[in-house]
Amino acid sequence: MENQDWIYTDIVKDHFLNPRNFLMGDEKNFDYNAVGTVGNPICGDQMKMYLKIKNDTIVDLRWKTYGCASAIASTSALSELAKGKTLDDALKIDAKMIDDYLGNLPKHKFHCSVLGHEALAAAISAYRQK
Ligand code: FES
Repeated sequence: MENQDWIYTDIVKDHFLNPRNFLMGDEKNFDYNAVGTVGNPICGDQMKMYLKIKNDTIVDLRWKTYGCASAIASTSALSELAKGKTLDDALKIDAKMIDDYLGNLPKHKFHCSVLGHEALAAAISAYRQK
């Protein structure tokens, strides 16, 4: 009964508390060749995505954000889904795939779940314009 008001699934909580591929420390310590930054127009939070791309494939990535728990959990899930994918396949990862991976986010937090993907798309776009 005491946790009845807690609206996040255990998977969401795990990714929030132990975010995968989160950029720890200075970005100079991660060997990336593409970067994308986006802001969330609804809440003003920001997300930055760093990609290591080789042969048109995301071989590694890191990210950091000022976003909330949902943004952190969603981007953690996205990072797991995107690693090893071609750029075209990574761009196909959508909010539903992330939602399914996490076992459903609260509906009113949907705007947070797209932040990571928008940063990923921005990084890929910047890479392709080089
Ligand atoms: S409230 Fe800003 S990213 Fe969730």
